[in-house]
Amino acid sequence: MICLGIESTAHTFGVGIVKGKKVIANAKSSYSTESGGIIPANAAEHHVNACADLITKAADQAGINLKDIDLIAFSQGPGIGHCLRIGAMSARALSCFLEKPIVGVNHCVAHLEIGKMLTGAKDPVLLYVSGANTQVIAFDNGKYRIFGETLDIGIGNFLDSFARHIGLGFPGGPKIEALAKKGKKYIDLPYCVKGMDVSLGGILTNVKQKHNSGNYAKEDLAYSVQETVFSMLLEVSERALFHCSKKELLLGGGVACNTRLKQMSMEMCRANTFKCFFVDNEYNVDNGAMIAWLGLKKFKEGKKQKIEDTSIRPYWRTDED
Ligand code: ATP
Ligand code: FE2
Repeated sequence: MICLGIESTAHTFGVGIVKGKKVIANAKSSYSTESGGIIPANAAEHHVNACADLITKAADQAGINLKDIDLIAFSQGPGIGHCLRIGAMSARALSCFLEKPIVGVNHCVAHLEIGKMLTGAKDPVLLYVSGANTQVIAFDNGKYRIFGETLDIGIGNFLDSFARHIGLGFPGGPKIEALAKKGKKYIDLPYCVKGMDVSLGGILTNVKQKHNSGNYAKEDLAYSVQETVFSMLLEVSERALFHCSKKELLLGGGVACNTRLKQMSMEMCRANTFKCFFVDNEYNVDNGAMIAWLGLKKFKEGKKQKIEDTSIRPYWRTDED
């Protein structure tokens, strides 16, 4: 079976095509800004302008005709309403035009399932770290569950906000990573793990104040930020692994591109004899292939949707899937 998947939860409009377990296309275009964050209406406009060309591009990449597609999948949520709506409308239009079934999928679960498919991990705990999302997810006792999450902002938004504060542009994560490599001294920062959850807002305020004081080198602050918040995330992931009696850690989301986070994940896994899995960065960031793959999986499990059931779900939680 061939499934075309559309991703449009935030800044990226992605169109991926899978044929069984093989990704045969993964086209995308991302909205970016010179300064500041995402303006929802502008991101949606980017998606409107990009959608038709990307669908054609993906079909070309895959070497197929649109008529060869058996199923249309799309990100139904969670995400920014303005953006989700463009992906959903494109998927509905394709489904009606091609007279093929449509399946809406959960974006966070898609990160988990593409990771499993690409790495061969069987039953992992996913540390999903992107701009807006920070969750520790696993399939346990019959459903996807969240074992830990941020209580306030996402880790990527946290890094982007700190980067913006010290005069670096968006996306800030890679710039903080480069700066952190030059840091030498660990500066004490609040360490905010609350039960199985993490809180990042207070650390952000603290590190901004430290920067404003002029007493600290920004390289040392960047280094200390990474060491602190990545330790928090791995502490929670480690506990989730023990709690669920699972043995595999999988990383996903844009922040999973970070080399130091990967290194620390491997260290934690080695210490516990867990296996550690990463995907190529192309699949860490938002992409259409993961939507196509989860759509196909859900369809094969019997999920059927009518067009009238395809309204977007901006606040769809992973544990409601
Ligand atoms: P979602 O809709 O799932 O929340 P998103 O729209 O934020 O995703 P992603 O591409 O998954 O998109 O993640 C983007 C985030 O990843 C940005 O905050 C960016 O700074 C961060 N990021 C990218 N590369 C790195 C890196 N090397 N180190 C740390 N953070 C990174
Ligand atoms: Fe994502």
